[in-house]
Amino acid sequence: MYIVLFGAPGAGKGTQASYVAQQMNLVHIATGDLFRQAIEQGTELGMQAKSDMEKGLLGPNELTIKMVMERMAVPDCETGVVFDGFPRNLGQAETLDEALEKQGKAVDNAVYIKVAEEELLKRLTGRWVCRKCQQPYHETESPPKIQGKCDKCGGELYQRPDDNIETIKNRLGVYFKETAPLIDYYTKAGKLVEVDGVGGIDEVGRRIIEGLRK
Ligand code: AP5
Ligand code: MG
Ligand code: ZN
Repeated sequence: MYIVLFGAPGAGKGTQASYVAQQMNLVHIATGDLFRQAIEQGTELGMQAKSDMEKGLLGPNELTIKMVMERMAVPDCETGVVFDGFPRNLGQAETLDEALEKQGKAVDNAVYIKVAEEELLKRLTGRWVCRKCQQPYHETESPPKIQGKCDKCGGELYQRPDDNIETIKNRLGVYFKETAPLIDYYTKAGKLVEVDGVGGIDEVGRRIIEGLRK
């Protein structure tokens, strides 16, 4: 199974992708996480993506696609993947379709997690993320059991540098212009699963799994 999770910044892609991957035994590929890892490790890829990320802009398509294809070449991906934050524009969506088609595979469903703008701001400004495994937490909505520490791996929690109001606004602008057209793209392909992303984290997770089963 190949599933795409998309939605605005803060919609809950990372939170739900981690849950769906676990429930459905899929590999979780998050392009934002891969870019952040590359920045942390100071690789060439990281250097190239850093300034775009800091501004809230998309990194170059070519670089993003190359990074995803390399990850997908690892044998653990053969049984299926849940993509988080990829594809992010029509070019990436078409490239993913072509790449899967070459292997006799296809995107099964694209889940659009729908959340209103006001709520997104609240979520992003209260978010803390694990430096090691990138699991997201929220000050009030989903606090870690021990303050400052990841429940999953014990890693240190930090606030992402792009989670400031100015950059969040840029990210939202980019989302509406570049990523929102994917709603149409996957609707036309008969693959869209729209899920209301407001409600408890567990509740939204159940809606996604149910939507995928239909
Ligand atoms: P990326 O890391 O993908 O960031 P994003 O799209 O802005 O999305 P977020 O990770 O901020 O939000 P999310 O939907 O994952 O929400 P989360 O689950 O954490 O991309 C960052 C940058 O990398 C881009 O700007 C770009 O530069 C680059 N990039 C990445 N992919 C790219 C690509 N394909 N092409 C080019 N460039 C790319 O949840 C948010 C918060 O809400 C958390 O605190 C969480 O605990 C809380 N929460 C979650 N669900 C709920 C709920 N139901 N109720 C209440 N709170 C909730
Ligand atoms: Mg995320
Ligand atoms: Zn962790």
